[in-house]
Amino acid sequence: MASFATRLIAWQKRHGRRGLPWQGTRDPYAIWIAEIMLQQTRVATVIPYYERFLARFPDIATLADSGLDDVLRLWSGLGYYSRARNLHRAARSISEHHGGAFPSRFEGVAALPGIGRSTASAICVFAYGARKAILDGNVKRVLARCFGVAGYPGEKRVADRLWRLAEQLAPRRGIEAYTQGLMDLGAAVCTRREPDCAKCPVDRLCVARKRGWVERLPRPRPRRPLPYKRTVMLMLTRAGEVLLEKRPAAGIWGGLWCLPELATDADVAAACAQRFGASVAHAETLPPVAHGFTHFRLEIRPVHVRVGALEARAAEPGAVWLPLEDARGAAVPAPVRRILAAL
Ligand code: ADE
Repeated sequence: MASFATRLIAWQKRHGRRGLPWQGTRDPYAIWIAEIMLQQTRVATVIPYYERFLARFPDIATLADSGLDDVLRLWSGLGYYSRARNLHRAARSISEHHGGAFPSRFEGVAALPGIGRSTASAICVFAYGARKAILDGNVKRVLARCFGVAGYPGEKRVADRLWRLAEQLAPRRGIEAYTQGLMDLGAAVCTRREPDCAKCPVDRLCVARKRGWVERLPRPRPRRPLPYKRTVMLMLTRAGEVLLEKRPAAGIWGGLWCLPELATDADVAAACAQRFGASVAHAETLPPVAHGFTHFRLEIRPVHVRVGALEARAAEPGAVWLPLEDARGAAVPAPVRRILAAL
């Protein structure tokens, strides 16, 4: 634990970012503006906005006395405009309830609109040197990897564990360099993709590195269960041949050959007669076959129909009778190939 902070602080002083416009100050107002802008926006994008903003609104009173339109105009292009609205609201609230002075305690900072726990900590660290823990997305990734926290950080149990870790790790001396170092490490070295472990000051402590989990942590959001769709596929066979249909070019499996589909509640015998001029000698429902698409799962219930009589008239356009062997070798979707193979 102690080693993590010591290494990070030493690394920040040598390799971390310095000279950023919000770094040379202890003014909580200036730091607050920076942390809000940096919440969802990269440093390089923030810098010119930050400089314009502070030139136009150099202190809380100026911001509180300005119209929201003026604030939004300077914010224009940064995105996430609720941030600007919250800044303006908070400035007015500070003017009214705190005598115009930025709150000096963590609880007061965290109570302002638009300031969550991690942002309140960052402000208190950089403005007051308070020993407070930050835990934004980048820091979650760094800690999950270094300490081998395997769950999805969006889950409360996992987030609680990461917060406890973050609090235990925060050093009593050098909290500013440590906190900046955590941010710098997450932004430049321990990146989501292709982290540069060779440059990492804590690589020898890192559980993920030791176990080969770096690419797998933090665990991504578990996929929501996909919607389920059901369909029936008719496998009409007659004298060693099976009926395939060409699918329309648009839609799933566009242009592939497929077994004819039927609504799950449709009548098999009626559909065979109407669509293919086929009478049913014997019908048997086979075990369902599941297939996953990106946006839904498809459950196919195959119905094997042995055709009795076949009207001479042509079936639906695009339908062909093929020897089973040829059908298995045709351009059919994978689950259809499995159904044909089981026949
Ligand atoms: N991201 C959030 N806060 C930051 C800061 N103070 N410096 C650099 N990146 C940050």
